[in-house]
Amino acid sequence: MKIAVLPGDGIGTEIVAQAVKVLRALDLGLEFEEAPVGGAGYEAAGDPLPEATLKLAQEADAILFGAIGDPRYDNLERAKRPEQAILRLRQVLQLFANLRPATMYPELVGSSTLRPEAVNGLDLLIVRELTGDIYFGQPRGIHVVDGEREGFDTMRYRESEIVRIAHVGFKAARKRNRRLCSVDKANVLETSQLWREVVTQVAKEYPDVELTHMYVDNAAMQLVRNPKQFDVIVTGNMFGDILSDEASMLGGSIGMLPSASLDANGKGLYEPIHGSAPDIAGKNIANPLATILSAAMMLRYSLNQDEAADRVEAAVRKVLAQGFRTADIYEPGTTKVGTNEMGDAVVAALA
Ligand code: IPM
Ligand code: MG
Repeated sequence: MKIAVLPGDGIGTEIVAQAVKVLRALDLGLEFEEAPVGGAGYEAAGDPLPEATLKLAQEADAILFGAIGDPRYDNLERAKRPEQAILRLRQVLQLFANLRPATMYPELVGSSTLRPEAVNGLDLLIVRELTGDIYFGQPRGIHVVDGEREGFDTMRYRESEIVRIAHVGFKAARKRNRRLCSVDKANVLETSQLWREVVTQVAKEYPDVELTHMYVDNAAMQLVRNPKQFDVIVTGNMFGDILSDEASMLGGSIGMLPSASLDANGKGLYEPIHGSAPDIAGKNIANPLATILSAAMMLRYSLNQDEAADRVEAAVRKVLAQGFRTADIYEPGTTKVGTNEMGDAVVAALA
């Protein structure tokens, strides 16, 4: 099995190194090949997604991705900006199903900004559509109307796109507590009206799953009011982007949330949901656990190594129980460690 390792920018390099260390320690005979992406891709080849990087990603069995983005590149034309690399990878590889689990580790209850009783035992999964919506809809642009500039984007979803992500949502709910909440803005948007109709139609194939619908503004509110009411949330690209950042904080730190982006055949790209955090890059303080947990998802969803995935997740729980904390989840009475030391602790906990 060959893994394409794309660390990217900022803290991407440090956190991905920890995940690779953990994967190597499992001794599964995995092969790793690294390539530059994002700002690093632009530096190496003048393109955030260099041809060779895309080719490696296409050939590999799975992709381990760090983070991209750096204010240094904010003034480049859009096509050259780091973010284009991940957007193109998702689109070219048709990674339409983005799974973002938000779990509360009991040891981190104190790191959440919500009261313990609101988040204790939290376990929710956001299924975000990843290759459609206003992110990719055409037309888009900035043009001049009546002597002033106007920016515009197009939100659009085809029926087939909604059907396939709905199935992912229902199937995920089936493996969990059989409750699916579809989030949209059907009171205002045509796209959302179609979304709601199609999801309701697909629900007929899953009579054992309870389907509810919620407007996105209400969902944003409910996520902080009573997050434990949710089992699986299925939603579009843009709403999912926003709600998953919000959900990450319920568990205490955005540094804890992994993700899987899957195509129709189970090939996937695995990345932490957080960004490249250029302000703390290279300082050995970033939390590598979201990336290590993303590697666990990779073992489970793309490499058919459920047992190894369980081992990695158990090791993460163990280091938290042992009291090891990076700065983002540090509380008095625990042991503050750096990025590298946290990776070492997880490796040690595998034994
Ligand atoms: C994410 C990120 C990306 C997105 C950016 C980096 C393009 O925020 O994966 O959530 O908006 O999808
Ligand atoms: Mg995001």
